[in-house]
Amino acid sequence: MRTQVVIIGGGPSGLLLGQLLHKQDIDAVVLERRTREYVLGRIRAGVLETGFVQLMEEAGVGTRMAAEGQQHDGAIFAYGDRQFRVDFKKHTNTPITIYGQTELTRDLYDAREAAGAETFFNVENVVIHDADRDAPYVKFSQKGTEYRLECDYVAGCDGFHGVSRQTIPLTIRREYEKLYPFGWLGVLSETPPVDDELIYANSDRGFALCSMRNENLSRYYVQCSLSDRPEDWSDTQFWEELKRRIPAETAEALITGPSIEKSIAPLRSFVTEPMRWGRLFLCGDAAHIVPPTGAKGLNTAASDVHYLYHALIHAYHDKDMEGIERYSEKALARIWKAERFSWWMTNLLHRFPEQSPFDLKMQNADLEALEESDTAQKLLAQNYVGLPY
Ligand code: FAD
Ligand code: DHB
Repeated sequence: MRTQVVIIGGGPSGLLLGQLLHKQDIDAVVLERRTREYVLGRIRAGVLETGFVQLMEEAGVGTRMAAEGQQHDGAIFAYGDRQFRVDFKKHTNTPITIYGQTELTRDLYDAREAAGAETFFNVENVVIHDADRDAPYVKFSQKGTEYRLECDYVAGCDGFHGVSRQTIPLTIRREYEKLYPFGWLGVLSETPPVDDELIYANSDRGFALCSMRNENLSRYYVQCSLSDRPEDWSDTQFWEELKRRIPAETAEALITGPSIEKSIAPLRSFVTEPMRWGRLFLCGDAAHIVPPTGAKGLNTAASDVHYLYHALIHAYHDKDMEGIERYSEKALARIWKAERFSWWMTNLLHRFPEQSPFDLKMQNADLEALEESDTAQKLLAQNYVGLPY
């Protein structure tokens, strides 16, 4: 078998890249380790930068997002007994869009199916061969049958635990990592959101976040211990803990209900360099992870897709290889800024086990500076709505 681009991983980055390439008549095959239902069952991100929304439009899959997504012009920050709003519109004239990762992944799968583009689900033993030569190929198996897929390029969109990153030799690969001493316990519930906008709360019991998916679907998070398991937390315990961490009037307004999903995610910062090895390109979580505090995980995946998509168009349509050669450099320049922002937001808003009284005063001073300074709010807003590609 032969295709132009093999995309390993049918998560948001692989699917978005596939759809964009399809629009440009560039042929791509997606290899996904799980089933479509499994991928759609993962509740993850919900905040999209405008750049992501524009890529979805360019890929021809923006219609439902435009109809059902919510645009937000600001977000609330609460600490101690204070709260303030950062006005994204005033500072950047750019909104963020609330639309769940599950929904946009569904839109991308539907479009892929409608286009008749090939996706192999339940693949096993994916191995990338000759990525550093002129004629790479990918071997894999599905239901006991072995396949060999020849191609021009391989896009490694297979997430943090995929095979693509591991294919780059250790002599070339450099990894940078920071683990945080806590996780996020997330709950999805069919209840109206407590506020029109997101609320990020720093409390002496730890971080909390009030978010949403639509007018009757809410997403809430609390900082938890890394040793906690979702089953350790009853719904009642979760709601009680959330109420203690958010402003009193917000807690009073909170409508609770049964959780329809409950999961714990560890927090990690991670970057691998370079993001290209010959004809293999890493995209999204395969190359980097951010702690979720800045809502940048999915959005950094989209910026990689943007750079790779343009590099491939120029290579195929104009025989111009500059984008291919500079992919890693361009993608990483933006990634490190998103890493900085996510790390800073995480430090600003969480309780760390080793925090001294001095550290707590510094965190409080940082929050006061943010509350009082238009300049500081502008910097936050620019990063939160998304730096330019
Ligand atoms: P993924 O979504 O991980 O997709 C990779 C795909 O590759 C998967 O479908 C996987 O099954 C497949 N795959 C893996 N290995 C192979 C293989 N060997 N062969 C074939 N296929 C393979 N971001 C936010 O902004 N906000 C959040 O609230 C948030 N919550 C998160 C919660 C969790 C538990 C996790 C893990 C991530 C969260 N993120 C969040 C991050 C965000 O969801 C990711 O950044 C985003 O999913 C990245 O998309 P991706 O396509 O690069 O990777
Ligand atoms: C959501 C997740 C985030 O990590 C974040 O910073 C904001 C919102 C969410 O799932 O809605």
